[in-house]
Amino acid sequence: MKNFVFHNPTKILFGKDTIPSIGSETAAFGKKALMVYGQGSIKENGIYEQVTKSLQDAGVTIVEHGGVKSNPVLSHVHQGIQLAKEHKVDAIVAVGGGSVIDSAKAISAGALVEHDVWKFFIGKKSIKDALPLTCVLTLAASGSEMNSGMVITNEETEQKFGFANKHLFPKVSILDPRATFTVSPQYTAYGSVDAIAHVLEYYFTNQEPYTPVQDHFMEGLVISCMDSCNRVLKNLEDYDARADLMWGATLALNGMTGAGLGKVGFPMHLIEHSLSALYNVAHGAGLSVVIPGWMIYQAQRTPEKFAQFGERVFGKTSGPMEKKAAEGIQALLSWFVKVKTPTSLPALHIPLKDIPRIAENAVGLAKVWRMPEYTKEKIEDILKLCV
Ligand code: NZQ
Ligand code: ZN
Repeated sequence: MKNFVFHNPTKILFGKDTIPSIGSETAAFGKKALMVYGQGSIKENGIYEQVTKSLQDAGVTIVEHGGVKSNPVLSHVHQGIQLAKEHKVDAIVAVGGGSVIDSAKAISAGALVEHDVWKFFIGKKSIKDALPLTCVLTLAASGSEMNSGMVITNEETEQKFGFANKHLFPKVSILDPRATFTVSPQYTAYGSVDAIAHVLEYYFTNQEPYTPVQDHFMEGLVISCMDSCNRVLKNLEDYDARADLMWGATLALNGMTGAGLGKVGFPMHLIEHSLSALYNVAHGAGLSVVIPGWMIYQAQRTPEKFAQFGERVFGKTSGPMEKKAAEGIQALLSWFVKVKTPTSLPALHIPLKDIPRIAENAVGLAKVWRMPEYTKEKIEDILKLCV
């Protein structure tokens, strides 16, 4: 294991009846807050009333900024920054999934600078401070509730870029599994695929020769994310299954899985972000298409870890390394089919003739993420396996 510093400052309140704490937790940072939320699911499931009542009872004045779209866009972030500045808010409250939390993070940083917040995303400026952010999570997927990352799409340039900065950690995140009872089977599965992808990105790009603690931790997270997703799809209001899935998705990208691994990559996300930027594909759906293709491509070059994955996650123990690797990838693909997430570009209604355009778009992010090995040709070769 390499030396590492693990520091995650986000306070988590997990479980039943935690949402009413959002008011007092936010009031600790000030008396006026910008409340960021999505297209309206929180108004249908009662979370909007719970949150606004709690904030008002705690003496927090609310400035609302609803309307965050899935795959959140820069123009809506700009509007939120304008509101935050106009009303001189002390804090930001995010109530939603990863798109809402990421938008709120961008607003929290953009509200404290005069330049375009997009400059942070293209590496032209770095974040020095951000308004305090509190969250109520309503969808188990991105892990944004307990990490310092955010992903925003610039509609004009058709770029979906993301990065991490220590000022973006939420101060407090409230995770009540009942808030996810109304998440559809489709988005439950997408969120599970996203969480699994977060684990696989580190698991397969880890350059350290022997990291048994991290490997077993990550293999266990993949197994439990699949298991809890299966249980939720049997009963959308199974509290324990929703709780297991919610906590598993948070652990999948809160820094813990990467401890001691040194430099790791995010290649599957690199490619998926272009699908979301160009075709507005749901993030988990895009990953469900990219993951098998990328795994097949990489397993042909470094089969060892894929054989370990096949053995330990899916029990594929017989035959040579290449066979165990191929069977493990097939087993994951079969699970995607079982939970009904798309597994090919045509299933996303993306024509194969667009592969060069997608690869061109992804190279832009590869440059920002300093992944020069992801050339247009390599990305095209991987996308040709996602069919
Ligand atoms: O907008 P509303 O009406 O709330 O509907 C949302 C949206 O349509 C709905 N939803 C959310 N909670 C619900 C609900 N519907 C019913 N009941 C609830 N309780 O679900 C839809 C998808 O929501 P969204 O926030 O887009 O999903 P998710 O949480 O998967 O977030 C996806 C975004 O996270 C980013 C992705 O790029 C994508 O933009 N990511 C952020 C990361 C990070 N910050 O670390 C890392 C991830 O890899 C990911 O890139
Ligand atoms: Zn993701």
